[in-house]
Amino acid sequence: MTTSGQTSPRLAVRRLTLTDFRCYSRLRLETDARPVVLTGPNGAGKTNLLEALSFLTPGRGMRRATLAEVSRKDAGEQAPWAVAAVLDGPVGRVEIGTGREAGSERRTVRIDGQPAKARELAEIASALWLTPAMDRLFIEGAGGRRRFLDRLVFGQDSGHAARATAYEHAMRERTRLLKNGGADGGWMSALEDAMAREGIAVAEARRTAIARLDVACAEGLGPFPAARLTLTGEVEGWLDQMTAADAVDRLRGALRVARARDEAAGAATLGPHRSDLGVRHAAKDLPAGQCSTGEQKAVLVSIVLAQARVRTALTGLAPLMLLDEVVAHLDQVRRAALFDELAGLNAQSWMTGTDEHLFDGFGDRAQFFRVVDATVHPGNTGHP
Ligand SMILES: Nc1ncnc2c1ncn2[C@@H]1O[C@H](COP(=O)(O)OP(=O)(O)OP(=O)(O)O)[C@@H](O)[C@H]1O
Ligand SMILES: [Mg+2]
Repeated sequence: MTTSGQTSPRLAVRRLTLTDFRCYSRLRLETDARPVVLTGPNGAGKTNLLEALSFLTPGRGMRRATLAEVSRKDAGEQAPWAVAAVLDGPVGRVEIGTGREAGSERRTVRIDGQPAKARELAEIASALWLTPAMDRLFIEGAGGRRRFLDRLVFGQDSGHAARATAYEHAMRERTRLLKNGGADGGWMSALEDAMAREGIAVAEARRTAIARLDVACAEGLGPFPAARLTLTGEVEGWLDQMTAADAVDRLRGALRVARARDEAAGAATLGPHRSDLGVRHAAKDLPAGQCSTGEQKAVLVSIVLAQARVRTALTGLAPLMLLDEVVAHLDQVRRAALFDELAGLNAQSWMTGTDEHLFDGFGDRAQFFRVVDATVHPGNTGHP
């Protein structure tokens, strides 16, 4: 990593290069550190660009796609693809390259040209995203909320991903062992012990992160509503009543007792994989799921802005904000407040929309691009 004298300390993508990624055969985009606004017609490639940026962080990106899904169709299902970026930030300039090499089933990551693990990306950049698919987050099943919850926790505590993966791995192995009827006592006990230790660690990390975020959300932010966040889950509840060590013992014991029931269910019926994130609109004192579409969007925006503040305070590194079609749901007062907040954030934001005029309130605090048919053209800057 080299430190460039004149760079802003704001974490920002300065160059983005895509190769055979989704609709882009090749794209090279240069940006400054200001928020980026991408406008253009439906199907132009706006969301694909945000998705490419989401691959600069660990995980499967904001659409949870497989490596094959993002390969450009005309290049073939097995075709390699690449996302490369030059980022400037508090630690200087870093080059990230990621993608799929020919014939590989794993995502390749390079940091400053050196092979690296995807999890190492977390030390350089994190991202928070809101997508139209998340509009139903408060209404649909708990799975989506749990993923959202764990991403928020991960943004505050990068060890969370490893614990959650270890828990899920042990859980899957135990379910398989139960299904095969092979309750080899020692191996089964070892898996339940791993589930208990990792599971309670997962629950504790969630409690800590959500408690912090609840405090930040309770303030609200201008026209964005205050929200109250809670965790619901049997295991999380235990941690109100006992020490973590006692909760590990209790979960281990409960799993042992539940073997027959879990065998019949074909899944573990107890554990933090069944927890949920509860969100209430504080002023209305209503569950977020019972609020209007616009109010739900505003609550989601409140949560991600609060998370950005919490993460920045904790780590000194603000997250890149990827806001796909968020602005269209917001009235003018909320749009102005969002732009003010994003302009002041110590990391770049990327926003999309079909209507460029909705972003007028940014003025020259943002840079504008027009996306048409998988090409990106510089748009108006500093327009009235
Ligand atoms: N693997 C792929 N290969 C080629 N094209 C793809 C691939 N995956 C998606 N596309 C196409 O990319 C195009 C752009 O998609 P994208 O979601 O980025 O559009 P958008 O600009 O966000 O549009 P909207 O305003 O409707 O949200 C779509 O036509 C989509 O079908
Ligand atoms: Mg889109």
